[in-house]
Amino acid sequence: MNKDLQSIVLTEEQIAQKVKDAAKWLDERYAGKKPLAVSVLKGSVMFFCDLVRAMKTPVQIDFMTVSSYGANSESSGMPKIVMDLAASVKDRDVLLVEDIVDSGYTLLRMKKLLTDRGAKSFTTVALFDKPSRRQVDIKADYACFEIGDEFIVGYGLDYAQQYRNLPYVGILKREIYEK
Ligand code: PRP
Repeated sequence: MNKDLQSIVLTEEQIAQKVKDAAKWLDERYAGKKPLAVSVLKGSVMFFCDLVRAMKTPVQIDFMTVSSYGANSESSGMPKIVMDLAASVKDRDVLLVEDIVDSGYTLLRMKKLLTDRGAKSFTTVALFDKPSRRQVDIKADYACFEIGDEFIVGYGLDYAQQYRNLPYVGILKREIYEK
């Protein structure tokens, strides 16, 4: 385990099982359809790559970079689109993949944006759900794992852009982000 972590939340094996379960749920939901899977970068990149490869449904993939935290632990409440999608979402079944739903501002912003652009349907899958931090009334259609108000990093999730490449998810020691 990385020395900056106090404990592991999900091991590589547990993540793999969550990915498999989510992919099965999505394959049933999208039977006969060809959704456009959108990774909300950067946090969702690891989960996204594993999830779309575990799905049997033929998907197209696209990416959007959205940022609202920077180096802070509180959301700015105004997610910024740093890089937009290349594909049009008009009349598409859009699958939005997030690493975590925290305040809910990012998900709300994405949902409004993609609906305004004419998406036919909008389904969201998140690896983590942190309901205790929610500021707006929104939730993912499928959340793999519910977590309390802990600072988690790894498997895409960062603190000040670090720890994203850990293959597991753990709780960051308080002394790291409070110093
Ligand atoms: C994180 C995470 C989600 C969002 C969730 O992204 O990846 O996209 O915050 O938080 P919210 O529900 O409070 O909006 P962040 O803005 O930190 O950028 P990153 O993905 O590049 O880490």
